Amino acid sequence: MLIPDIIIAIDGYSSTGKSSFARLIAKEFGFIYLDSGALYRGVTLFAVEHSLIDDKNEVDAETLVSMLPEADLHFETDSEGSKTYMGSRCIEKEIRSLDISRKVSPIATLPAIREFVDRKLRELGRKKRAVIDGRDIGSTVFPNAELKIFMTADPEIRAMRRMKEMEGKGEKVKFEDVLANVMERDYIDSHRKASPLTKAADAVELDNSYMTLDEQMVWIKELIADKFGDTDVKK
Ligand code: CDP
Repeated sequence: MLIPDIIIAIDGYSSTGKSSFARLIAKEFGFIYLDSGALYRGVTLFAVEHSLIDDKNEVDAETLVSMLPEADLHFETDSEGSKTYMGSRCIEKEIRSLDISRKVSPIATLPAIREFVDRKLRELGRKKRAVIDGRDIGSTVFPNAELKIFMTADPEIRAMRRMKEMEGKGEKVKFEDVLANVMERDYIDSHRKASPLTKAADAVELDNSYMTLDEQMVWIKELIADKFGDTDVKK
């Protein structure tokens, strides 16, 4: 399948299925997948483990930023795809807990943390052929990304998806708690000062409330074919 050397930026609200879509795109096109949310979650786990965030989500940002290089957050790929690591420890499961989900958005409002994550992403994406998902990838981190997608879906549908994902991993949660977390993160992500969640002017919107992943793949292949000319992506 012929795909040009591009960056695909996928932004949007929490639990719109950005990461499942991005993973599938990476697999299908042979691109690398960079999960920016996982880096924010990894930073949050590190802050929790070093007691740099308290119960009221007050963060000792200065100490956190100075210690972050030793966290050695990075991605490793195995047969199941890309996974998040802290040093030699795979943290892919831990960073998806409701506790980390409750603390991650306050951490992600801190400009110094955003700079840390942005730098890492730009370094990892410098060779292109990368699909990157987040909140500000098309607007701030890779403003020149050749393809920008902005994902939305109804909040209740997003909360239901997130709840199923957590239940699948053995975490028991109430629908109301998950919905409250989804809506709270929407609010914090869209209202923060540093790179709020916004749709870049040149992003294409995708509301996947009633779409399957397979339908999304058909959609993006047609989009790529339209945008980049006569490649064989429709095959
Ligand atoms: O998977 P989900 O969309 O629920 O969240 P995520 O992508 O894992 O990101 C977790 C949180 O990190 C978000 O709610 C944002 O507060 C923050 N984040 C951000 O601020 N900027 C990004 N580029 C990615 C995530």
